[in-house]
Amino acid sequence: MDKGLGEVDKKLSVLVIDDEETIRSSLKLNLQLAGYEVSVAEKAEPAFSMLSDQEVDIVLCDLRMPGIDGMSFIERCHATNPNTAIILMTGFGNHELALEAMRRGAYDYISKPFDPQELILTLKKVEEREQLRHENEELRSEVEERYHFGNIIAKSKVMKEVFDKVKRLAQFHTTVLVTGKSGTGKELLARAIHHNSPRRSKPFIAINCGAIPEALMESELFGHKKGAFTDASRDKKGLFEEADGGTLFLDEIGEMPPHLQVKLLRALQEQQIRRVGDEQTIHVDVRVIAATLRDLEQDVMDGRFREDLFYRLNVVSIHLPSLHERTEDIPVLVEHFIKKHNKRLGLSIKSISPETMRALMNYQWRGNIRELENCIERSLVMTDGDAIDTDSLPDSIQAALHRVQDADQSAGLELLSDDNLSIKQHSRTLEMKLIKKALARTKGNRTHAAKLLEISHRALLYKLKEYGLTELGK
Ligand SMILES: Nc1ncnc2c1ncn2[C@@H]1O[C@H](COP(=O)(O)OP(=O)(O)OP(=O)(O)O)[C@@H](O)[C@H]1O
Ligand SMILES: [Mg+2]
Repeated sequence: MDKGLGEVDKKLSVLVIDDEETIRSSLKLNLQLAGYEVSVAEKAEPAFSMLSDQEVDIVLCDLRMPGIDGMSFIERCHATNPNTAIILMTGFGNHELALEAMRRGAYDYISKPFDPQELILTLKKVEEREQLRHENEELRSEVEERYHFGNIIAKSKVMKEVFDKVKRLAQFHTTVLVTGKSGTGKELLARAIHHNSPRRSKPFIAINCGAIPEALMESELFGHKKGAFTDASRDKKGLFEEADGGTLFLDEIGEMPPHLQVKLLRALQEQQIRRVGDEQTIHVDVRVIAATLRDLEQDVMDGRFREDLFYRLNVVSIHLPSLHERTEDIPVLVEHFIKKHNKRLGLSIKSISPETMRALMNYQWRGNIRELENCIERSLVMTDGDAIDTDSLPDSIQAALHRVQDADQSAGLELLSDDNLSIKQHSRTLEMKLIKKALARTKGNRTHAAKLLEISHRALLYKLKEYGLTELGK
């Protein structure tokens, strides 16, 4: 029943279990006429083997059966096939037993004697309920997915490690320091931590410490009392109070002025804040996640950032690697952004040419994922056909592509550009070249090519996909 009972294009399958031949055959006929796919069994034992061999959406079973009785059957069937709806057929007046069966996992029951129409109605009811359940589940998983790392797309090992760490720490009330270059997804990660924590139903509030004038920052964070300064015409809550019970994301924490670093430290240690111009302290329950693209440790050494605050924030730290350290994430990210922006822009561009993908994989993404996303968005707008081609890429990336092509054509390493010393990237280029050569030599025979390359056939298929070379070979 995984696919949802209500799907019209799929015949639902019903398994009828009854020891009376006449009941089996008449139910089979009626249900087949109503459009179901029907199989029959005379008792529980053969029914179990049928349930393990074929997909059954609905089981219709009698309460009294020879051998294993209906009640035990229901219990076992529910345990082994939780997605199969069991409907019990009981004798008239067996209400109590029917309820007991439902407690053990039956979905519904129908009292004998019933006419076929009544049975079909019961089945339809099950279908509708099941479809609703399915839709609800889908809705729930959509919402969950959005925050359940659903928006953080990655397949690289380094990012999987980040996810594992985040899953473990999300539930604890500790401060977290997220580090990484611009556009690596620090804010996205902070949101994921919040939405995976027990605080998920409370606010997530983000503030960019680098974007707020120093004079306003204290009141922004801690609030103020009426009359505290010229413009303070009324009492105002600060973000700490707004985020009470939830999470406060302090972006670019390295930009926080020193006198506020002291106040922030106090707020973190004592869980108390004081509004500007107010004597009273207010208790707040806030989880702080801070982010920085700076080297805070260096800032501490240079006296720009308080050491005590650094240690308070750095209870747990998560580093988001730059995109060039996880190029294997590029294809999945590209696919994700094509889908995302197609939808948003009302376009239906289906794919990206292998050459374009190669260009994207070889480009140095200094702006990391944000730059990649912008690039895809732009390319979607610039594309005429139904696949993104190199022509729609920004000039800087086209230039990089030409450099790669030149390097491809040159035989040795001596022509590799001087400004890129990444062993990883050059190995990839070399690997791609060898794969192409092997396929050319074997006239596209992948099995032979894999032998020449001394890798398994599977590994070759994987690499072809990874490098966007799937059009090569057969
Ligand atoms: N792994 C990812 N999967 C999908 N989208 C991502 C991923 N990482 C980042 N993004 C997207 O890239 C953009 C930049 O991410 P985000 O704002 O979280 O980065 P940041 O590290 O906070 O950047 P900055 O330091 O410039 O503030 C956002 O649109 C975000 O949705
Ligand atoms: Mg950010």
